[in-house]
Amino acid sequence: MTETTPLNDIIASRIARQGRITFADFMAACLYEPGLGYYTSPGRKVGAEGDFYTSITVHASYGRVVAREIAQMWRNMGSPAGFTLVECGAGNGRLACDIMDFLAEREPVMHQSLRLVLVEQEPSLESAQREMLAVHIDSLSWLSPDEFASGSFTFSGCLYSNELIDALPTHRVVMTSDGLKEVYVTCTNGEYAEEAGEPSTPELEAYLKRVAVELHPGQQAEVNLNAPKWLASAARALQRGFILTIDYGYTAHELYTPLRKLGTLLCYYRHQTEENPYLRLGLQDITSHVDFTTLMEYGEELGLQNAWFGEQYRFLMSAGIIEELEDLERSDVSDEEKLRLRLTLKKLIVPQGGMGDTFRVLIQSKRVTAPRLLCQRRIGG
Ligand SMILES: C[S@@+](CC[C@H](N)C(=O)[O-])C[C@H]1O[C@@H](n2cnc3c(N)ncnc32)[C@H](O)[C@@H]1O
Repeated sequence: MTETTPLNDIIASRIARQGRITFADFMAACLYEPGLGYYTSPGRKVGAEGDFYTSITVHASYGRVVAREIAQMWRNMGSPAGFTLVECGAGNGRLACDIMDFLAEREPVMHQSLRLVLVEQEPSLESAQREMLAVHIDSLSWLSPDEFASGSFTFSGCLYSNELIDALPTHRVVMTSDGLKEVYVTCTNGEYAEEAGEPSTPELEAYLKRVAVELHPGQQAEVNLNAPKWLASAARALQRGFILTIDYGYTAHELYTPLRKLGTLLCYYRHQTEENPYLRLGLQDITSHVDFTTLMEYGEELGLQNAWFGEQYRFLMSAGIIEELEDLERSDVSDEEKLRLRLTLKKLIVPQGGMGDTFRVLIQSKRVTAPRLLCQRRIGG
């Protein structure tokens, strides 16, 4: 039996009124129902007091390496005045703060005329962001996701996101002997259940066709139509510059392998993973892995070029984590603290199931000729 949360009653009566809903609509309510969704209700979500860690919460060096790459992007564009940074899914502003601190300290010319635009689904986070970014407040402005996607916002610079796309509501499908079906959510006497039915939109089949994926009989998978939709808004807004996306995910070939029979949907609650999305509605996070092939291939149709794609550890190692470690060695913190920090930074780069290769980084460019990025350097060279 699903325990009662305020959201539980709302979703149950929605289903009673309108009939079964797509999993994407269910996930949208669980994460973003105003005031009650996981991301739209009060409380810490990320970090030790929350439900999961992201790379940002590990150490400021993560943001500082991203900042090194962003400064390199700026140089690739001819060091223009008025470079705009846009962060989508900015959370409490921690990553933006680490990036801005680095740029203020090491790239004063760039920082002088830099604009930072934060886009966040949950408007109440603006006060946390204001506080976190107090010293950079003059550079700061905000946009709602609707304003961002409206077509009236345009900029040149870099749009970056960390763990945004895995938090976008996704459809789920299953291959049956009768063809591709969609997973719907039903609720009878307070019990949530799933049933397969005809796809709510032909876009689901078209999505899989685009990445040449044919699911095996019985195989379930997520089809995140919101990911290409978001990318289309991003590509439209970007006049010139880069889109840097960090998230956990795979190429379509890896993501939709028949070995992953149940897809990648996963929930997080107090640092425990949970496979059942029908528990603690609105209190646990629900995520799915990102299909980077779609971002890359659809991005090309949208006029973006794929500048770099790879594991987080490769990105960090070549874009500046080594320099961060060298800075640490030169600093006057105690040997004990240096050791502690070295071990902390290791978490970001350790491959084989650690953050280092679970996370992937994609850099796309627009109207920048042959960009030369730090992450393209040979590791260690
Ligand atoms: C998994 S959290 C990541 C937060 C932060 N980037 C980090 O790494 O700690 C995803 C964030 O994206 C926000 N979000 C979801 N959809 C969004 C959208 N369309 N535009 C902007 N933010 C969005 C959520 O409210 C949430 O704060």
